Amino acid sequence: MNKQVVLSGIRPTGSLHIGNILGVVNNMVTLQNSDKYRCFFFLADLHAGTTNPNFHKIAEDTYSVLADLIACGLDPEKSVIFRQSDIPELFQLYTFFCFATTVAELERNPIYKEQITQLNLKGKGLSIFLNYPVLQAADICLYKAELIPVGQDQIPHIELTRRIAKRFNELCGTSIFPLPEPLLTDFPKVPGTDGRKMSKSYNNFIALSDDEKTTYTKVVNMLTDVKRARLSDPGHPEECPVFTLHKFFSYTEDLKAIKSQCESASISCKYDCKPALAQAINKTLHEPRKKRMELVQQHDFLTGILRQGGQKARAIASATIKEVRKALRLVANEIDFKELG
Ligand code: TRP
Ligand code: SF4
Repeated sequence: MNKQVVLSGIRPTGSLHIGNILGVVNNMVTLQNSDKYRCFFFLADLHAGTTNPNFHKIAEDTYSVLADLIACGLDPEKSVIFRQSDIPELFQLYTFFCFATTVAELERNPIYKEQITQLNLKGKGLSIFLNYPVLQAADICLYKAELIPVGQDQIPHIELTRRIAKRFNELCGTSIFPLPEPLLTDFPKVPGTDGRKMSKSYNNFIALSDDEKTTYTKVVNMLTDVKRARLSDPGHPEECPVFTLHKFFSYTEDLKAIKSQCESASISCKYDCKPALAQAINKTLHEPRKKRMELVQQHDFLTGILRQGGQKARAIASATIKEVRKALRLVANEIDFKELG
């Protein structure tokens, strides 16, 4: 039986932080290594440009995130790893999909509405920003992907993809595209150094690219249980982001000890609990950080990965586009597609 196609994109902004790694990236690696699927993972550089088309910076970040991903276990021998903009066929499918999408449904997209307010883009957003889900639908359908590993927050985009694919199939008069399903995973909520969700835009993250000392400083300055103002105040570990991070990085026995010592006010946040966390994070990240450091020096090697992945992706993408053009009568049946380039 043919393996199902799993596809996911990650926007290259800066480099990855532990929130991304514990959620999205580890999940990608598990899917890849399960051997159950054909996995496609790409760097969504065009999507990264929809709020600020700073493509020089995005190109740099693409290499940085690629190094992070490989260091965390994505394997170009097992998954097709590529850069979104390297696939010219994507631009074609995107244009075709614009014929199957209404402005109204894009304006209704809750993710769009929320972002417009949050980023203060009312009346100033680029047209590709409104069309973000059309591009995402093209990403997915170009490879006829069936399962999309995403967090709950991306559901509206997958719903829109299904609508666009369905309508486009009708336009073609044949079912070219399977309707993709979200592969819902419980992404753990990883708190940042200020207790809010760890996020690039809150500047409260610990990056894979941070060195051990930076990690230590960030951890020592973390917000703790606000009710524990003095050393003698008993703490509430379940309300403390430091403890939440301990749960991801420390051993169960250590967790139990920290919990009881915090509650009995017998350890210091600053001198015991936080340094222990910094150490645990640094220990877990030691190998991937080392690997990452080596990879960022090997620009040609990374380019080779993108080239190889891009070739594999394009072989499938161009077959899809031929199918679409034929179905839409955009090319006479007897024309050899080789002539069209
Ligand atoms: N929108 C996704 C995000 O913000 C990134 C993305 C782009 C994507 N294209 C995709 C994810 C296709 C899954 C499938 O995280
Ligand atoms: Fe938080 Fe640790 Fe301090 Fe308890 S001891 S409040 S868990 S930092």
